[in-house]
Amino acid sequence: MKIIPKIDGFGADVLDCPSGLVVSEDDLEQIMRAWMKHSILCFRAVNMSPEEHVRFSRRLGSLHIMRPFKFNLDGYPEVFVVSNASKVDPSKPVAGDAEGDAGLRRVGEGFHTDGEDKAIPNGGSFLYARQVPPERGDTLFVDMYSVYEALPQSVKEIIAGRRVRYSRIDLHLTHYPLMAPLTEEEKRERPDVYHPLTRQHPLSRRTSLYIGRWACDVEGLPFNESKELITFLQDFAKHPQFIYTHKWSSGDAVLWDNRCTQHCATGFDDTKYVRTMHRTTLEGELPVMAQSSAGVQVALLNEYSVS
Ligand code: OGA
Ligand code: MN
Repeated sequence: MKIIPKIDGFGADVLDCPSGLVVSEDDLEQIMRAWMKHSILCFRAVNMSPEEHVRFSRRLGSLHIMRPFKFNLDGYPEVFVVSNASKVDPSKPVAGDAEGDAGLRRVGEGFHTDGEDKAIPNGGSFLYARQVPPERGDTLFVDMYSVYEALPQSVKEIIAGRRVRYSRIDLHLTHYPLMAPLTEEEKRERPDVYHPLTRQHPLSRRTSLYIGRWACDVEGLPFNESKELITFLQDFAKHPQFIYTHKWSSGDAVLWDNRCTQHCATGFDDTKYVRTMHRTTLEGELPVMAQSSAGVQVALLNEYSVS
C-alpha cells in the first residue's frame, strides 16, 4: 500500500490496496494518520464486496444507518446506495422521478457535509464507485481548514463564537425538489439544529469553517445580516483554490472527513448513463466550537445567547 499526497496536501491517493481492503493493523494506523493529515483519501482500483466495504469501514469507527431505509442495499443496511439505475436491470438508468429503484438519485448536488442538519453530524463517509458514467458526475471536495484560514480577519471576528441554524424542514424541497415532501413524522424526526461556525476537529484540533447548504441563519444577528453572512461564507468556500475535483473511475473509493471538508456532486447525463455508488457512513460527535483569539466575545455570546 502506498499513500501519495496530492500537490497541495489536501487529499492523498492510496495505491496498491489489498483485495477487499483487508489491511493489517499497521496499515490501518497509517491510513488513519494520513486521513487526519490530508482529510480526503482516494483509494484506487479497489475491489471489495459490500461485506468487505462494511467490515473495513467498521474498523474506522461505528457506522451510521441511513434513513429512510429504502435506499440502503438489500441485506446490508449500513450501505447507502446513490444510484439512478433500475433495480430490475442495473445496467440501465431509470428515468424521471427522484427515487431510482436501486437507490437515491441526485444525492448531494450542492456543497454540504453529511449530516450537518442533524444534532450529531456524521464524522466521515466512504463512497465506493461501482459504476460511473464515461463523462462528468465528478465530486468536488473543499478544504474547510484552508477556507477558515483564508477568511478576512474582520469576518473571523464576526463568526467567532457564533452558531448557525440548520433546517431540513425549511430546505428539503429546495434541495430535493423531486422528492416527496417531508411527512409530519419525518419533520418531528428532523428538528432544526444549531452548530458552531468555527469548528475544532476532535482529533487534529485544527479549526475549520463549518457550513453547508442546510445552513439557514446565524443565531443572534438581524435577519438580513444573517442571510448575507451565510451567502458570503458559502460562496467564499467555493473558490477553486480550495477545491479538489475527484473524477471517478469505477473501483475508486473515497474516504472524506465531514468535520473539515465539504463536498458537492455534479451532474451527468442520467437518462443515458448509470452511476451507482455505495456509501458507508461513520457516526460523529457533537461539533465543538473553536476557541479563538476573540475569546472574550465567545464567552459573552455564550452567556447572553438566547436560543
Ligand atoms: C454522498 C454524496 C456525492 C456524489 O454520498 O454523501 O454527497 O458525487 N455524494 O455522489
Ligand atoms: Mn454527501
